[in-house]
Amino acid sequence: MSLPWENPEQRRALQAQLIAWQERHGRHDLPWQQPATPYRVWISEVMLQQTRVETVIPYFQRFMARYPDIPALASAELDDVLALWAGLGYYARARNLHAAARAVTAEHGGELPTTLAALQALPGIGPSTAGAIRSLGHGLPAPILEGNVKRILARLAAIPEWPGRSPVARRLWTIAEALVPEQHCRAFNQGLMDLGALVCTPRAPACSDCPLASACAARATGAPEAYPGARPSRQRPQRQVRLLLIEDGGGLLLEQRPPTGIWGGLWSLPECATEDDPVARARALGAVCEPAGELAPRLHAFTHFELHMQPSRLRRVGAPPEAREPAAGLRWFRPDREALPGLPAPIRRILTEAGYPTE
Ligand code: ADE
Repeated sequence: MSLPWENPEQRRALQAQLIAWQERHGRHDLPWQQPATPYRVWISEVMLQQTRVETVIPYFQRFMARYPDIPALASAELDDVLALWAGLGYYARARNLHAAARAVTAEHGGELPTTLAALQALPGIGPSTAGAIRSLGHGLPAPILEGNVKRILARLAAIPEWPGRSPVARRLWTIAEALVPEQHCRAFNQGLMDLGALVCTPRAPACSDCPLASACAARATGAPEAYPGARPSRQRPQRQVRLLLIEDGGGLLLEQRPPTGIWGGLWSLPECATEDDPVARARALGAVCEPAGELAPRLHAFTHFELHMQPSRLRRVGAPPEAREPAAGLRWFRPDREALPGLPAPIRRILTEAGYPTE
């Protein structure tokens, strides 16, 4: 299937529809648009890199009041710039702004350059920020590809993968470059960002209000919100533990867990590291035991890790003279005669499998 921007006539129609939409429905009163100088666009773009518009606005206004132009920023003390930045986070951004203002003063006569290459040579200016400064600030054609734009382009082309992967990002850049108009690029790029913020939102895109809807491949699938794909879930850290079923006739030794951490305050089976000797561990807990077989391993997924549990049975054969009573936090239970206390569900399942009544 040919994509709409590969045909010059369709591409021009899409560009015109988005530009007209931006003029009517887009944002025109953001502080960095009044006026949209290269310097103001630069500062706002850097602030907006990791921060929401509402949060940025008061910081932007304070920054402009204090450093109205590049020479003012270049001659500032870094500590003062950082103090003004306090609360926005990602302080490397402020350090880079300060260093770039000095470089622009030294190398470009105090004016931000117009080419993407020269802009990207400055500290903290990547390809999309360079494109925004050139288009929104200088009014010259250049592609941008920030988060909202990635979503719009991934939907237009129905790209199902996560844009954080570099082959996907490269494809999106190719589309962004193909779509950029020679004229009115400022309104076009601002239109992409406004469309992403106001219409083509992540969860519930309002396709009936969208000037690009007729060309949108994701809309044609009936599930535009499914594009682009989400970040693949990270593999959670894997932890391993041996659980000890220390048994004495009908008795079972349980241990109360510390109040914080997983299963905080619940009773559970005593544990040791999988590589530790379970007989030695049981003895340290006051029970002289012999091994009595392994139960099937179990896996439990917590939010932040996965716990591999190896339950080991141990039969008590006597108590060492120094420790006839279990230590603090340990207690012998009689599951055949008494209800067990609150046990974590995976532990309860292991006990059921071992033949204990756990209801
Ligand atoms: N996010 C990044 N650049 C923006 C802009 N010019 N307007 C609104 N949100 C933005």
